[in-house]
Amino acid sequence: MGFGKVILFNEHFVVYGIPAVVSAVGAKTTALVERTSGSGFELRDERPETPGYKAEKLEQQKESLEIMLKFMKIDTQHNHYLITIGGDLIAASGVGASAASCAAIARAFSQELNLNYSDERVNEVAYEGEKGYHGTPSGIDNTAATYGGLIWYRRDGQKQLMERMRLRKPVEVVMGNTGSIADTKEVVGGVRKRKEEEPEKYRRLFQDADQLVRNARKQLEEFNLERVGGYMNENHRLLQQIGVSSPELDALVTLALDSGALGAKLTGTGKGGYMVALTPGRELQDRVAKAIEQHGSQALRTHIGI
Ligand code: MEV
Repeated sequence: MGFGKVILFNEHFVVYGIPAVVSAVGAKTTALVERTSGSGFELRDERPETPGYKAEKLEQQKESLEIMLKFMKIDTQHNHYLITIGGDLIAASGVGASAASCAAIARAFSQELNLNYSDERVNEVAYEGEKGYHGTPSGIDNTAATYGGLIWYRRDGQKQLMERMRLRKPVEVVMGNTGSIADTKEVVGGVRKRKEEEPEKYRRLFQDADQLVRNARKQLEEFNLERVGGYMNENHRLLQQIGVSSPELDALVTLALDSGALGAKLTGTGKGGYMVALTPGRELQDRVAKAIEQHGSQALRTHIGI
């Protein structure tokens, strides 16, 4: 099993060693591995999806699987493996779908072959699998997919550092799906290119993102949700400035704020995929979700800090 995730602060900045905050969401991806005689492997993907997502990601998914099989030293010459993935996490951009499937597959192999993988080992395998989708993953998605909960994450060279954070109680959020599919490799590559072209501007933006997430952490831990929402809005503006938002994402963010959300921002890769709105209490959550649905987009009602 692998958890879906929502990045609350600092996607993209996290690739360059700036801290980020991520939370698991209620939805999960499950996997089952069945070994039979023969050779090779077959993947059955039974996850619900944003239309077109699975076809679009098929090549990357295959590459990811091959990397993981090699890393786990699975013998596909003398055995055949049927890998079935499912669960209630929608295969879409922005919810950590690829990482959740990688963690679930690592666990399922461990179970079928009695490999006794620890969470740490599952996380290592899932990180390798993410390379099929990302190229240079920060490791935040596989960490969230493996461990769940609310996590303060930072990459330090090759090291992936995580600290567990606690919320006084789970908080309702709404995730709005633009319905467009983003290519993480491409969007991360775009940030790298612009960062190289405009070093001074990006240095300032990265410094702001670093300060922002530290302030936001304090407010999250003190459960000062109005302030947390304000920091989410600021984080969205920083993400706009590094060029990873889109008109559809901006429209859903504005809609959520106009409907009373305490804060809203894009989440994950951007350029499509999901946004997240902070909506404490069932009533506010429902109001914001309905506004997004009336706009014609799909809304996921979930919690952070579970
Ligand atoms: C994607 O969910 C998050 C990014 O920051 C990429 C990464 O951290 O590897 C955009």
